[in-house]
Amino acid sequence: MIKDTRLILALDVTDRHQALKISQDVKGYVDAIKIGYPLVLATGKDIIGEIAEMVPVIADFKVADIPNTDRLICEQVFSAGANALIVHGFTGSDSLKTCVEVAEVHGADIYVVTEMSHPGALDFMQKVAEDMAQLASNAKVAGVVAPATRPERVQKIRSIIGNDIAIISPGVGVQGGSAADAIKAGADWVIVGRSIYLADDPKKAAMEIAKEIKDAIDQ
Ligand code: C5P
Repeated sequence: MIKDTRLILALDVTDRHQALKISQDVKGYVDAIKIGYPLVLATGKDIIGEIAEMVPVIADFKVADIPNTDRLICEQVFSAGANALIVHGFTGSDSLKTCVEVAEVHGADIYVVTEMSHPGALDFMQKVAEDMAQLASNAKVAGVVAPATRPERVQKIRSIIGNDIAIISPGVGVQGGSAADAIKAGADWVIVGRSIYLADDPKKAAMEIAKEIKDAIDQ
């Protein structure tokens, strides 16, 4: 993924026309668009390729299965045109290795969830987040997902993975996280959904967050 604005749009809308319009509007202001179950279940998997023609697509299916099923899912996602796929780490090294192998064949990237951005992530995920960061680092994935709602956790996960793999960080805006704080804590990209796609002017909202990120880097 080319590091320019360092902003990723989480496009969790369920209307095809709206999804394509917003993608066109924010093109140039986001480095990728993350799409997941809401949009793909509502509109079909061809939407992956349609958006990927405009902006690189990260498919957020949080894949979590045995290696063979993971392989079948990865093949479908990358054949549909996704540039990257988010998978869970808790299924272990064999499942993750399979996802990385399929991604390599397609010239695509894998991102591993370490700790989610919502409060419920403290119930189970945070306890194993650092182990999953290490697992991701060992598997030489493109990056991990770490919570902008807890910049200190972004910092901790950065200290485990070093600088060889990236951190993409959701939770900015509606969930309470700050783009500037996440970037300063060590995130390479922030992921923003509702604060952009629910805005009256999604392009303007994306431009403002991109500026906040740039100002944080320039400080
Ligand atoms: O609308 P909002 O900006 O809160 O969207 C955040 C996006 O990031 C959603 O698509 C959500 O599923 C996703 N996400 C997250 N925490 C993770 C991984 C993904 O919030 N750890």
